[in-house]
Amino acid sequence: MDRDVIPCSDGAGEIVAVGATVTRFKVSDRVIPTFFQIWIDGLPPKNRGALGAPLDGTLAEFVCLHEDGWVAMPKSLSFEEAATLPCAGPTAWNGLMRGTPVKPGDTVLCLGTGGVSMFALQFARAAGARVIVTSSSDEKIERARKLGASHGVNYKTHPDWEKEVLKLTDGRGVDCVIENGGIGTLARSFECVGWGGKVSLIGVLAGREGKANPHNLMFKSASLHGIGVGSRASLEQLIEAIEINQIKPVIDRVFPFDQAPDAFALQASGNYLGKIAIRF
Ligand SMILES: NC(=O)c1ccc[n+]([C@@H]2O[C@H](COP(=O)([O-])OP(=O)(O)OC[C@H]3O[C@@H](n4cnc5c(N)ncnc54)[C@H](OP(=O)(O)O)[C@@H]3O)[C@@H](O)[C@H]2O)c1
Repeated sequence: MDRDVIPCSDGAGEIVAVGATVTRFKVSDRVIPTFFQIWIDGLPPKNRGALGAPLDGTLAEFVCLHEDGWVAMPKSLSFEEAATLPCAGPTAWNGLMRGTPVKPGDTVLCLGTGGVSMFALQFARAAGARVIVTSSSDEKIERARKLGASHGVNYKTHPDWEKEVLKLTDGRGVDCVIENGGIGTLARSFECVGWGGKVSLIGVLAGREGKANPHNLMFKSASLHGIGVGSRASLEQLIEAIEINQIKPVIDRVFPFDQAPDAFALQASGNYLGKIAIRF
């Protein structure tokens, strides 16, 4: 970036003014922005422009966007809860639903207990799947179990966590991996994905450099999908799922606006589960 930008891609708020030609929304409607401002559905357009970079983001009192870059906020959620959806929501949703969608009886492995993983946990459970999480913390595994995970594997005390995952699935492996680690965890995900399963490549938490040989995906007819958040349509789909299943996003802490730097410090510490919110 060659300029300073307003940070954050997530948010929720109320419309205070609309342009003369706007038809999708009116003043006082409650809305959330889409992460990519001009990706409505189907294949992503070039230069789709994400909030926070390269576009100015949402850590602001007023935000001015094209009407196509907003969706109606779920009625069942507070502003803070709804504000967690735009980035991690479609990412988790597409991680589960792209390619062969997760179905009842499947097993989903979520790496870590951050925002993407906790949404994936909740959506997978709503789809009837069993969920295993990995975490650096036994306490967070307990919290994830209370949210519906059936098992957790501590990747600090079990650095070969893929073997534990294989044991938990009687050697069969999982149907879907929410791969938040990236190249640092990918080889282990390839080991514990099961026959016909998929690895949804999402994050870079375990580094950006390294080697992972996809050879054994071939013998398992398994696949690797790159996930890049998602379209407005996928955000609207997951909002339906949230309302029908009464899902509440997992928020670890809410900070007042003037303590926003503390919210970023908490995120950098890794000492949280799910999402962190900032209230204006
Ligand atoms: N491709 C996309 O469209 C997309 C969209 C959103 C986010 N992302 C990326 O996806 C990743 C997850 O996003 P997020 O918002 O969920 O992040 P987050 O909320 O910051 O998640 C942080 C958590 O990830 C876990 N973690 C850290 N290092 C790990 C490792 N080596 N192995 C396994 N887990 C590890 C930790 O969980 P424990 O404390 O439980 O160990 C940590 O608390 C990030 O890399 C983010 O940049 C990609």
